[in-house]
Amino acid sequence: MALLQKVKGFRDIFGEDINYWHMAEEKIQSFFRSYGFKEFRLPVLEKTSVYKRGIGETTDIVEKEMFTFTDSDEMVSLRPEGTASLMRAYIENNLHNPPGIKKYYYLGNMFRRERPQKGRFRQFSQIGVEVLESDAPLLDAEIIGLLYNVAFELGLSDYVNMEINSIGCPTCRPKYKDDLVKYFSSHKDDLCDDCKRRLETNPLRILDCKVEKCKSIAKDAPVILSYLCDDCNTHFESVKEYLSMMNIPFNINPKMVRGLDYYVKTAFELVTDRLGAASAVGAGGRYDGLVKSLGGKDTPGIGFAIGLDRIVELLKDINPMEDKGTDVFIMAFDNESLAHCLKFVKELRAQGFIVEYDYSLASMKSQFKKADKTNASYAVVLGSNELSENKAAVKDLVTGEQELVQLSEVINYIKNKLI
Ligand code: HAM
Repeated sequence: MALLQKVKGFRDIFGEDINYWHMAEEKIQSFFRSYGFKEFRLPVLEKTSVYKRGIGETTDIVEKEMFTFTDSDEMVSLRPEGTASLMRAYIENNLHNPPGIKKYYYLGNMFRRERPQKGRFRQFSQIGVEVLESDAPLLDAEIIGLLYNVAFELGLSDYVNMEINSIGCPTCRPKYKDDLVKYFSSHKDDLCDDCKRRLETNPLRILDCKVEKCKSIAKDAPVILSYLCDDCNTHFESVKEYLSMMNIPFNINPKMVRGLDYYVKTAFELVTDRLGAASAVGAGGRYDGLVKSLGGKDTPGIGFAIGLDRIVELLKDINPMEDKGTDVFIMAFDNESLAHCLKFVKELRAQGFIVEYDYSLASMKSQFKKADKTNASYAVVLGSNELSENKAAVKDLVTGEQELVQLSEVINYIKNKLI
């Protein structure tokens, strides 16, 4: 029978890697909560129109990367990101009522049919935040600062850079787009086929093309920052000022464009040079027109998403973590000792310790081998000799020291040793 294998770009995550996932997910979530964010759980499947209208028909994601299929005559897609979906939920659940700033975070798998490579998968995990109902530049600085501080908290700040840009708004971007099209049209013959098409559909994306020829043409292209209207310009100046007040280091990257169409004004990416071509570990921006374009009220918003697969990759490289073994291995050999063993197991587990015992009640020698395999710190031996004195032998498996402890004292003894 042919060996069953996983789907291309999808992967199994297990073993030591899981420790990094838990650490990252737990730290980031508790950090988000300390900023006042509430969790939002979104569906994995949405009507395709949510993404077409939300992310934009001519983006790479919508044009060629979604896993889309028909369900009862309706086109549905596995979510490629969380923002459009959260805006749909915000409108559908009337969350603008009562008015006031809303702060949500979400965590989960996203799906994009991209070419798999280091740090780029077809199923990947994002943890993201979205804030609605404020267009204050201080909020932009806080959100950019939050992304930076997450990296700091995880010990990654020396390996990442925050890049920011303003990508204008519907008032100033059209003139920029016109000039960009003029510029690239004069180099049309040298552009790659994708960019020739982008010239018609989404000229800003040419700035992001990875093909060498296009990159060198893009070097001399006009930059959006020279085209910003007064409103965008003042906003961007304030964001930079507040970031400096918050001591958040950043670089301005006037060529940064984002791969999703909903952004206006502030855009940012936390990049690293440690992951090859997959350089952004987190990215986001402001999307003031998105809720309205999906049929809701005119509502400003800003957010970002962190790529957890990439964060874990960085953590593994930089911050090797030891696998936490079992705290206590309790050894019983017959039904009498098992009764004591089960009591200790229950009590110690309830107090948060990792506790194991042997289901086959094997010989002491074999149980010590099993305790070793689980990397246990202590063994509690409930042998008949010890029990006849109402005692257990507690052995420190690192030093080899052993003590006889009254049964009634075993739990306290272990607690004192382990805490
Ligand atoms: P994005 O830039 O498409 O933005 O993705 C955010 C992050 O997800 C990236 O920086 C990267 O770390 C990770 N990521 C994206 N694609 C992959 C992949 N194929 N494999 C592994 N990691 C990946 C968004 O998704 C926006 N929704 C962010 C946002 C939230 N903007 C405003 N609010």
